[in-house]
Formats: sequence, C-alpha cells, structure tokens
Amino acid sequence: MKNYDVKDLKLAPLGKQRIDWAESQMDVLRGIRERFIKQKPLKGVRIAACLHVTTETAVLAKTLKAGGAQVTVVASNPLSTQDDTAASLVKHEGIPVFAIKGENRATYYKHLNAALDTKPQVTMDDGADLVSLLHGKRKAQAQYVYGSTEETTTGVIRLKAMEKGGALKFPAIAVNDSKTKHMFDNQYGTGQSTIDGIIRATNLLIAGRVVVIAGYGWCGRGVANRARGMGARVVVTEVDPMKALEATMDGFTVMPMEKAVVHADIIVTLTGNIHVIDKEHFLKMKDGAVVCNSGHFDVEINLEVLHKMAKTRKEVRPFTVEYTLRDGKRIRVLGEGRLINLASAEGHPASVMDMSFANQALAAEYIVEHHKTLEPKVYALPQEMDEEIARLKLLSMELTIDTLTKKQKEYLASWHIGT
Ligand code: ADE
Repeated sequence: MKNYDVKDLKLAPLGKQRIDWAESQMDVLRGIRERFIKQKPLKGVRIAACLHVTTETAVLAKTLKAGGAQVTVVASNPLSTQDDTAASLVKHEGIPVFAIKGENRATYYKHLNAALDTKPQVTMDDGADLVSLLHGKRKAQAQYVYGSTEETTTGVIRLKAMEKGGALKFPAIAVNDSKTKHMFDNQYGTGQSTIDGIIRATNLLIAGRVVVIAGYGWCGRGVANRARGMGARVVVTEVDPMKALEATMDGFTVMPMEKAVVHADIIVTLTGNIHVIDKEHFLKMKDGAVVCNSGHFDVEINLEVLHKMAKTRKEVRPFTVEYTLRDGKRIRVLGEGRLINLASAEGHPASVMDMSFANQALAAEYIVEHHKTLEPKVYALPQEMDEEIARLKLLSMELTIDTLTKKQKEYLASWHIGT
C-alpha cells in the first residue's frame, strides 16, 4: 500500500481552505505550535494519531509535525472522516493519512494496521483502538511504545480497566480527564455539534419537540441544555441516581426510557453503554420517531433488532434511514447509529477543540519527556498544564480575571480568623 489512503487528492484545495479556517479559531494550539517550532520537543518521534479526521485534527497534526514529529493520521471512526481534510494533509502538509469516509470494517482495520506499521513511539487514540491492537494482534510492538494519549471518556474507561487488570503495557495519558477537555469539549462541543448533526440530517424544527436524552454525563447535559435552549421539551433518562437528581434539579423531566420513548420525537443516546434503545423501546415509539447516537461507539441503539423488526428500510435523506415496521410505524435512524455530530455534521467547533488538542499536544510532549520514569498506568496531565490552557484560552478571548491580594492569600492559608 502507498503511504497514504484517502478518497481523492483533488479535494485538497477545499480541505486546505477549511483547515485554515479552523486554525484561525485555535489560538491556544497555534501558540503551542510557535513554541514547538523553536524547541522541537518531538524531534524524530514517530506518532500515530487515531482521531476523527477533521479540520481540527489537521491543525493538531500540523502542530505535532512542527514539533519535529513524524506523524501518521488514521481514522478513529469509519464515518467521521472529512475527505477534503485528509487529502489536504497528504498533499499540502506531507502527512500520511489513512482514512476514507464510509470505509468498511475491513478497510478501517487495514488503515489502523497501516498506521501501526510506521512503528509509532507515541500513539493517540479516540476510543482506544490503537491501544487495543497493541495489546492484542500487535502486542509484540507494545514494548517499543513510549506511551499513548486518549481523547474520550469511553477510551479512558477501557484504559483504566486495563490498568486495574494489570494488562496495560505502557503509560497512557487520559486527555479526557483534563478539566479543559471534558468540561468544555464534552459539554459545549457535544451540545452544539449533536444538535447541528440532527438538524443537518433532518432539517427538523427543534422547538416544541419532545427530545429524550439518554445519559446525563458531561455530553448528555450539554445536549439537553442546547435542546432546551432551542425550545424543545427535554426528558432525561439515567441509571445513576446522582445524575438523575442533578437533571431533575436542572429542571429536566426524568423518567425511565420505557416511558420516555412513548412521547419522544427525537431520542439521543450518550451513555457509553450498549443497547440503550432496544426492541421493547422500538415497539413503544410513536410513528416518525427519530433515533440517533452521540456516544462513542455505535452500540447504543440495537440496530440489528430493528433490522429484524422492519418490513422495509429506505434512505429518505442523506444520513436518515427510515425503517417501516410490520404495523406501518416508521422509525428514522440517523447516521447508522454512529456519532451523529461527526457523521452528518463537522464535529465540535474548532474553538472548543482548541483546548482538547492543546491537551493532546502537551500530552505527547509530556510522554516524550518523561517516558523513562512513567509506569504502565493511566495518568492525567498535571493540573498546572490544565490551568495554563484555561488561562491561555481566556487570554485568546480577550478576557482578564482578578488575582488574589496578599491579604486574601493569607486569609485562605490561615485558620485563626473565625466569626
Ligand atoms: N470529536 C468531536 N468533534 C471533533 C472534531 N471537530 N475533531 C476531532 N475530534 C472531534
């Protein structure tokens, strides 16, 4: 195979234009790149980045390359690749990319293996697929890996399970554990881009609709708030009593999925779990219900069972497939049950990915600098780095904040002053 596999290099000019636009919104990452150009902290390091191949990921890849790394980019999801972006990375930046939107499972894995053939010393994952291969079919290679970074909640959960079971073979940095990642990307990024994906796929009016959100983690609350902001009547389903209580006190209606689906116009899953929407739910849905997923894997909606229940299945719009059940009821599934924000839209906007990918760039640098002393454990980035990213983001937004006076610092450090 040639050292890249993208849809069409002729798409590169449009990709470049869109990457430039994303870059203009990513001030923190641009600042890191300026330093990387001078210091070359990643000089000669082979990095395989398995991420959604978007314009924002392109800006990260350019930054890693500017730091001296030999970067290969590979898709972390068969449906999230922006083909023009992939083409531009190859053509204009000389960065090998293995990613084609709509690739099948075999090609997806062929691409992952091609990225691992470059013998990376640092791997980046969004969902732990490279790490899984490096602990499975390609485990002989694991000894050469300095460390890995992980972008998403689902991947971090897997890595922590591997660490607990004593299976993890190299250190991993849980980028998702940084506050400047999960509090912003997961909440405001997923909040906006999920609604964006639903609208681009369906062009439905959100106002007045009953929108059911499964899961009230950072992502779920983001979507719930944005849907409410657009006038939806929002219902939340949860299994965690604390999160259910939070959702209730945030003003949302909470009920079990079995009851919620009866009223739902649009159902969005963001739980990280399997078969959150199953046969019993499809049976109770109303005619025309729209079902989609914004959780990492395409397991949240049991599409296999829906296939079996359906009499016919047809694409009624790009990314919208209508299943007609034997009784004539229609259920519309968006984006094949894959991440709807990346399947039918462009993922999170660049200005929020700026912080996520600043964390990624610093995590790669941290691994290269410290790999000799890191253990095969899951680490968070040091809090100072997280806070520095927040400070730089504020600065880029031309916002300033107060600082503690000497007296205030003394007050916080003392225990003598009381009532
Ligand atoms: N995950 C969600 N949105 C994304 C984006 N725009 N780029 C890369 N990964 C993402």
